[in-house]
Amino acid sequence: MLQSYGIFIKLRILTNNKMGLLGNNFASFMKKWHRIYDFSFDGPEPQKLHTVRTVEVNGFQVCLARLQDGYFAVNDVCPHAGHKLGQGICTHDGRVICPYHRYTYDLRSGQGDPQQGDRVGTFPVETRADGVYIAFEEEEKKRWGFW
Ligand code: FES
Repeated sequence: MLQSYGIFIKLRILTNNKMGLLGNNFASFMKKWHRIYDFSFDGPEPQKLHTVRTVEVNGFQVCLARLQDGYFAVNDVCPHAGHKLGQGICTHDGRVICPYHRYTYDLRSGQGDPQQGDRVGTFPVETRADGVYIAFEEEEKKRWGFW
């Protein structure tokens, strides 16, 4: 009885780890914030409203958008055929249109238009007193592979 209880506990720890409970804590511990814009250097409005552009953060290409309610960031690589989303068009309702085949992605959620059936990865962005920051997990490069 005692022995089977020990197996149950071991199994529970393994399951929790596999389901990401320990992994998530580890991932949030590994999250690093990088300043994209420095307001003292780039000015208070470093990017025009309703625009997207490609920025390099820690060696990664990110599509950074400025919308009415702040800055948002998605992976710069279009999931369709790899064009740069940062060279696309930002719509007033918060989507980016890829310039290559016109696939469209929501900049807040990363969700592609329903008929596309795909999505693009998103990154946390914070506007602080001294600038705009983007968060990366150290494992991000592995997750998106082709950067
Ligand atoms: S590469 Fe972006 S829509 Fe085809």
